[in-house]
Parts: sequence; structure tokens; C-alpha cells
Amino acid sequence: MLPPELIETASLPYRAAGRFAWHFASAKLRHDPFFAHVLAHGLIPDGARILDLGSGQGLLAACLVGAHAWHRDDAAHAWPALWPAPPAPHSIHGIDLTPRDIDWARIALKAHAARIRFVCDDIRVAPFPQADVVVACDVLHYVDANAQEAVLRRVRASLAADGVLLLRVSDAAAGWRASVDRAVDFGMQLARSGRTNGLTVRSEAQWLALLGDLRFQVSIRPMGNGAHTANRLIIARPVD
Ligand SMILES: C[S@@+](CC[C@H](N)C(=O)[O-])C[C@H]1O[C@@H](n2cnc3c(N)ncnc32)[C@H](O)[C@@H]1O
Repeated sequence: MLPPELIETASLPYRAAGRFAWHFASAKLRHDPFFAHVLAHGLIPDGARILDLGSGQGLLAACLVGAHAWHRDDAAHAWPALWPAPPAPHSIHGIDLTPRDIDWARIALKAHAARIRFVCDDIRVAPFPQADVVVACDVLHYVDANAQEAVLRRVRASLAADGVLLLRVSDAAAGWRASVDRAVDFGMQLARSGRTNGLTVRSEAQWLALLGDLRFQVSIRPMGNGAHTANRLIIARPVD
């Protein structure tokens, strides 16, 4: 769980994009364990070039920027004692298909536009810059199985040799929890972009097999209980 003051710091810049963008940012940062996980376990190294696939309204970037500023100004009494210092990324390149999300990301992070860019494009065709960390949080199930494989191949090609892919997926074999994830993601897609494409899901074992075929070495972190029981954070590193 992110500290409440950090949630406030990271979501505040979205106020300029409107009440919905602001409240959505605050709710997502509060309830989704992904962001705290990344910071608590030091999954993004300092100085990383980050490629964020399906970046949405740029919450990962907002969280990292907010964490860095908050740690710098308030670390002595506020930063969680067991967490490493937050990273200062070299650059963040976000790609998302939904124009409204890209607009909100650009508005919220405009003070950092020199190193944080958001491109409105489709990850199936958009060029991927070289990266030290590629993040794909809850996005690959929006493209079909062939596209998932093609995107992961291109991710591997764009990753530095010591880079890492942080892939968050729902385990399709996780029973009714996975069905709830699918229903929520379908509803969110419809509400936010008007798209009603089907979702292409895989079990955890199928994701691991695909990543193994593409020469990634993986470890997995469960994302918690309750609403997140079916979610998995797969940490994948290229191997020769
Ligand atoms: C569930 S949201 C996750 C957003 C973000 N990763 C986060 O965790 O806050 C999924 C995002 O993927 C985007 N998306 C879906 N299909 C896409 C595609 N083919 N190319 C780029 N973005 C896509 C949607 O527009 C949406 O913003």
C-alpha cells in the first residue's frame, strides 16, 4: 500500500485534467498494489529508461515522479523504513491507444515533458525505443494471442541485456477471481474508450511457457488477496 501522502502527491497533478482524472488517479493508486510493489521491492533501477506499454493516464510515471519528490523533501519522517529510495528514471515513454488517457497523462506530467513522453498509438505497431525496464500492466489481454507474442518479441528486442520486463496479468486459471478481473477490464475498456474488443487471457502457466519460449527467465509475485487474488506480477529478464 502506498503511503496516503504519496497518493495525494502523485494524484494532485491530475486535478488540472478534471475531477474524474484526479479521483481515478487517487483511487487506482490507493487500491492497486502494483505501484507499491514496484517501489517496495526496488523493481525499477535508478536512471532507467522506462517503456510503459498501455500507460493509461500515466499513473506509473506520476507515482515515480511523486515518490522521488516526496522522498527528497520528506524522507526523514515519511518514507517507509523498509523501502529502498525511489528511483529517478532517466526517461519514461508511455504508449496508449486511448486519446483521452494520453491527454490526461500529458496534462498531469507536463512539467516533466523533457524526459516523460506519452504517445497515442497501438502497441501492436508503435515503435519501441531501447529500454532498461518495460512495464505492461493489465494491457496484453486487450490484444489477441498472436499480437501478444509479437509484442513480447519486440519487447525483448528493445530491452537492454540486463533489462527487465514487469508484466502484470490475471491468471486465467484462477477461477471466479479471474472472471471478475475480466468483467472489470471489459467494463473499464467500454467506459473509458468505447471499445468492446474481446479479451485474450492465458493462465499463469501459459504466460510462463510463452516467456520461456522467448528466452526470458521469470519470477512471479502474487499481488495480494481479495480483489487481486488472480493477479500476477511476472518479472522477466532476457537470457541468452
Ligand atoms: C487496464 S488499463 C491499464 C492502464 C495502466 N497500465 C495502469 O496500470 O494504470 C489498460 C490500458 O491499455 C490500453 N490499451 C488497450 N489496448 C491497447 C493497444 N493495442 N495499444 C495501446 N494501448 C492499449 C487502454 O487504452 C488502457 O489505457
